[in-house]
Amino acid sequence: MATGDVVFTLNGAPVEVPAGGSSLLEALRDRLGVRSAKDGCSPQGQCGCCTVWVDGQPRVACVTPVARVSGRTVTTVEGLTDAAAWGDRFCAAGASQCGFCTPGIVMRLAALPEPRDEAAVRRALLAHLCRCTGWNTVVEATCHAVDVATPTPARDLAAPAVRATLEGGAPQQVGPHVALGAVAFAADSAPGDALHAVRAADGSWVVGETLTAARQAAGKVQGRHTTQPLSWPIEVPPGDWVRTLQTTWVEPAYLEPDAAWCAPDGEPVGPLTNGGAFGAKRDSEVASVARRLAREHGRAVVAAYSREDVVCLGAKRPPLAAGVRADGTGVVRVARTAGVADAIRAVAPGLVVEEVDVVGPPTSVAIRAAGWAEAAVLLAPADGWVTAPNGARARAAVRADGTIEVEVHCGAVLDAVVLRSYCIGAAHMALGWVRHEAIAVGTDGVPRDLTIRSFGVLRAADTPLVAVTIHEDATGDAVNGSDAVFAAVALAVWRHDGFAPRWPTMPS
Ligand code: FES
Ligand code: FES
Repeated sequence: MATGDVVFTLNGAPVEVPAGGSSLLEALRDRLGVRSAKDGCSPQGQCGCCTVWVDGQPRVACVTPVARVSGRTVTTVEGLTDAAAWGDRFCAAGASQCGFCTPGIVMRLAALPEPRDEAAVRRALLAHLCRCTGWNTVVEATCHAVDVATPTPARDLAAPAVRATLEGGAPQQVGPHVALGAVAFAADSAPGDALHAVRAADGSWVVGETLTAARQAAGKVQGRHTTQPLSWPIEVPPGDWVRTLQTTWVEPAYLEPDAAWCAPDGEPVGPLTNGGAFGAKRDSEVASVARRLAREHGRAVVAAYSREDVVCLGAKRPPLAAGVRADGTGVVRVARTAGVADAIRAVAPGLVVEEVDVVGPPTSVAIRAAGWAEAAVLLAPADGWVTAPNGARARAAVRADGTIEVEVHCGAVLDAVVLRSYCIGAAHMALGWVRHEAIAVGTDGVPRDLTIRSFGVLRAADTPLVAVTIHEDATGDAVNGSDAVFAAVALAVWRHDGFAPRWPTMPS
């Protein structure tokens, strides 16, 4: 053992790694090849994706110096004795979609004493963020009777994967392994000796033998939640309107930061390896950067954004301001974005679209339902039914107790567990979008809220029940249904909140 090495027990076996100022997460992932622990925000310590046990207690590994676990016992999902049962339960309940957050969640929940009641589970989940599931199914998988007889190996997981891919907008696996972190996310399949590349403030990429070394060389500064107020970058057009709406900057808030790796003579892997990040990452530079640097260095290179990079560089849904008349005509002013005018007109041909230049982060029409969801909401059909450009239809209502009721038609169901999970996730995202989600952007156009907790994503304890009714249409082609649900729930919540003219209606 070299001076400065750290020895500890990992999943029952002794291991040793150099201390070197690195975190336990970095040691697990890059020294020991344990990649079930995910890096969603390091070193912010706010997403919970890196949660492991230290001496049986859940700890976020990204803010735990590896030196601190010297002589102690570290457990990851690979060392969890009932991991298979957790995977089965999560799969059976639809409690994992992309699966980036769930290994950490499983480690947190598995540490709770049995019986695990709902209140304790929701409290424990406060340490975690999930962008996909909307929490309901995670609670069900943990506390309720779940039919685990069918998930594996008897359940055919091909049709669920087709449904998940339709809903996620990119290839997505379904199975117990997904919840346990055994899907190879972009940075997971890189060789252990790959170089790490991180982006410096001037836009150049700095390469190091380890993530810590690269970050130190790049002079990375940890982001924070600003006190700067929100801004609504576009004014409502003048007119005699029955409803107006102004939206602001919203972070897509996918949990897996943009990452890709490449061998010197290979093709890049990433950034979309499991799930579609809600339409984000399409213009990410990480794949081309990994390829270029791998060729330059003659070594495999992982190029990854930090959470702060994701916020500053990633595309947002275009903010807008609009007014509508009772007959469905009106004017939408929207941040200039390729394709957004067509997206709006696809559902609201009576709206005149004016694209305006705004100072801010990049925008993209690929972000979930961008433009058309806002247009559908502005029209506010009395019966609540929203029809997406792909023909899917959804309706939602907010009950007095806060429960959100959802109905959806989206062709052949393929797999009700997966479709329900995505509908709940879409409802969770829409509720957060209307009421809470926003990031402050400075007058220079640069986002100021750089921590993952500052985006306003709803926590488990604040998420209502979502009741989903799926209408089978066996003869229709299966199409994405959760985007229609997203728009329908946004309308239902906005209506419930009295059509308040600015979103978010209840900024945190
Ligand atoms: S990566 Fe550790 S809490 Fe987010
Ligand atoms: S399943 Fe939780 S972030 Fe995707």
